[in-house]
Amino acid sequence: MATTLPPTSKSLTFLAPASPPHVISTPLAPPAASELVVKVHAAAINPVDIQLYNSGLLGWLAGKKEKGIGRDYSGTVVAVGASVKGWKEGDEVFGLITRPTGEGTISEYVHPVVGKDPLAKKPTCWTHELAAAVPLVVLTAFSCLDWLPADKKKNGFGRVVVAGASGGVGMWCVQLAKKLYNCHVTGICSAKNADFVREMGADEVVDYTSEFVGQALLEGLPAGRQYDLYIDCVGGTEIFEDLYTLLHPNAAYVTIVGDKTRRTAMGGPLTYLTNPAQVLRFIKGLIWGPRYANILLYAKSELLEQVAGLAERGEAEVVVQEVVKGVLEDGSDAWKKIYDFMEGGRVRGKIVAAIE
Ligand SMILES: NC(=O)c1ccc[n+]([C@@H]2O[C@H](COP(=O)([O-])OP(=O)(O)OC[C@H]3O[C@@H](n4cnc5c(N)ncnc54)[C@H](OP(=O)(O)O)[C@@H]3O)[C@@H](O)[C@H]2O)c1
Repeated sequence: MATTLPPTSKSLTFLAPASPPHVISTPLAPPAASELVVKVHAAAINPVDIQLYNSGLLGWLAGKKEKGIGRDYSGTVVAVGASVKGWKEGDEVFGLITRPTGEGTISEYVHPVVGKDPLAKKPTCWTHELAAAVPLVVLTAFSCLDWLPADKKKNGFGRVVVAGASGGVGMWCVQLAKKLYNCHVTGICSAKNADFVREMGADEVVDYTSEFVGQALLEGLPAGRQYDLYIDCVGGTEIFEDLYTLLHPNAAYVTIVGDKTRRTAMGGPLTYLTNPAQVLRFIKGLIWGPRYANILLYAKSELLEQVAGLAERGEAEVVVQEVVKGVLEDGSDAWKKIYDFMEGGRVRGKIVAAIE
């Protein structure tokens, strides 16, 4: 029997950039033909949520209306659109919704479009809090690792560096480099996270707070070898003076941030528009190598299915530093807590909001 949907759904939204978010209640629409309605149990927070909240970009794209916060979610399907195949009410799903019009997942209900918004069945071994912590970061890690040279993807034994290895994206880069491509992984993090990064699978760790990173990476190379892939999840340009010694010409340097280091400013490929140095580096890398790219995540459901499969086989670990409660309660300090975690930039794994 079809579930009767409640008349309204509560969401955390904001109007102008950086204006205090508030909880609103809006009519809950039934699913359009290709949509699901999902009752959200948990939503994860990513740095991009804070960057969009602070920038005028969402306002420019979505206009003056209320804009939602959050991209990741995990929940239960409560209604299925007329043309949707393969999903039914009661299915537990996790996924990503990135709408330029500003629909957020810190909401009681979301409307993913099947075939467009990445989503997959939640592995039974993950709680909703764990599953919500996965989509955006794992889809980004998959796109970073795609830059491994083809022979290393096929035969394994590549050497990969992950800067920001203890963060949301970094911990997946470390895990997937080991599990999917049998690489030797060097993680860059602070000393307090060294054991954690080793537990994720890193063979070596460089502490950026006490070592010269370029020099430590060079010392970590066996004679005659260079690295195949440098994944930057932090931003900045300090490493470039050592880049041509660290990487061979067929290797790649990929960044998901770019040259900027300010946590609350938008990064990613958009910064090609504002920073010509990155464009020159890209062209230079294309001609002479190593390749340089500032990249975006791959928004693909099959990659979420792949990671769910790894989880079911006990081969993927999700780490949530804190589950914040009360984010949809008026007067709660939950948003402030979330914002401070994200602005601080020292989260181990992920911060998740429970949607009660
Ligand atoms: N282009 C895209 O598609 C895309 C997708 C996802 C994310 N991003 C961007 O990528 C960045 C990382 O995202 P995230 O979710 O992984 O962030 P995150 O989880 O908030 O990263 C926090 C981690 O960064 C580490 N860290 C901070 N400074 C560091 C440094 N100098 N060297 C090494 N590690 C350092 C911290 O470790 P310690 O405490 O040990 O310092 C902490 O574990 C953000 O700027 C985000 O906006 C882009």
